[in-house]
Amino acid sequence: TERTLVLVKPDGVERNLTGAILARIEAKGYRIAELKLVTPERSVLEQHYAEHEGKPFYEPLLAFMSSGPVVAVVVEGDRVIEGFRSLAGTTDPTTAAPGTIRGDFGRDWGEKVQKNLVHGSDSVESAEREIGIWFA
Ligand code: GTP
Ligand code: MG
Repeated sequence: TERTLVLVKPDGVERNLTGAILARIEAKGYRIAELKLVTPERSVLEQHYAEHEGKPFYEPLLAFMSSGPVVAVVVEGDRVIEGFRSLAGTTDPTTAAPGTIRGDFGRDWGEKVQKNLVHGSDSVESAEREIGIWFA
């Protein structure tokens, strides 16, 4: 079995979509192992988004992610890393496939930020690193 870090980003919490998003995760058959509501400190976001430092969307992304509470969740299941990214859909919510979280609930209403509702770890190494950051 595998673990991934899922974040319901501030746009998802603000729009009261946390329940709908968690329902899709549970309906798929994954298990919620840990969960908390938190407004992230900048230091947490700097660690989480270290790979994007210096990119044009980095500062707007950190500002957006610290603009309100997020729901951080450790989700468990066989191949859950790939499985959740499939549930989430592609990064740009305007073109994410219908049937996915981003495709069904999102569109590109950020000016500089893609407000795409959720984050999911992209590899086993990222998942373990990110879980350590959010659930230290
Ligand atoms: P996450 O699950 O959030 O990590 O999304 P991802 O893996 O699909 O995207 P990635 O890790 O490459 O980028 C992290 C976040 O940065 C995205 O979810 C977006 O919010 C933002 N982002 C990434 N690429 C771009 C971009 O080209 N433009 C803008 N405006 N934002 C971006
Ligand atoms: Mg990513």
